[in-house]
Amino acid sequence: MSKSYESFNPRTQYCLDHSTPLNKHVDELMEVSLACKSGQMTGAKGVLQTCATLIEIIQAKNILDIGFFTGVSALTWATIIPEDGKVISMDVDDAPYKIVGKPHIDASGVGHKIDIRIQPALKTLQELIDAGQSGKFDFAFLDASKTEYPSYLASCLQLVRTGGIIAVDNALWDDRVLEKEKDTSTAGVDTLNKMALSNSNVQNVLLPIEDGLHLIVKKC
Ligand SMILES: C[S@@+](CC[C@H](N)C(=O)[O-])C[C@H]1O[C@@H](n2cnc3c(N)ncnc32)[C@H](O)[C@@H]1O
Repeated sequence: MSKSYESFNPRTQYCLDHSTPLNKHVDELMEVSLACKSGQMTGAKGVLQTCATLIEIIQAKNILDIGFFTGVSALTWATIIPEDGKVISMDVDDAPYKIVGKPHIDASGVGHKIDIRIQPALKTLQELIDAGQSGKFDFAFLDASKTEYPSYLASCLQLVRTGGIIAVDNALWDDRVLEKEKDTSTAGVDTLNKMALSNSNVQNVLLPIEDGLHLIVKKC
């Protein structure tokens, strides 16, 4: 149990309650997402509030959102970026969007800022690189296949501009990164954490927020 919606902790709740609230359409989408099948994949409030603050700090406009699910993270970013900003969101499965996310995203009035690409994220990232989009993104949020985390990081380090931020969700993976024996998902998360640490071109910090939020700033 590592996400704030999975178990009640008054200290965590106090922090969430004293941080800028999420947009009401995000709150509503979170609620219905948590109630649906695989609802525990929904982004957690502490991660969304932290990333929203970082997006404001760096005045991010163009965002990569890897792992759409019902769209809670994508909608959060779309509510805070400017009118001419874009969130490119990636997933292999569009059913959670069609069944759960779409009505809320349509009602939010910011759905036009979200461009959903339904195919493997690595394919979309490579297409963006091939289309000359390297250095064009301000912020990336990694939250799809854990085994592919190292490859997502490598692609995002190309696609994000100098001074841009790559935020990696589930960087503690329910504390399984601490165990000696690691399955392939845990190994993927652990490898990304070590890749960031050993890269002298980034400044990184792994925060114990929710299920672990690894922040990686591209220095050059
Ligand atoms: C944890 S959920 C994303 C949650 C979302 N970011 C949010 O805040 O609610 C992970 C998503 O990644 C998708 N996914 C898994 N493997 C993928 C891949 N190789 N490429 C793209 N998406 C993938 C899954 O279908 C799932 O919807």
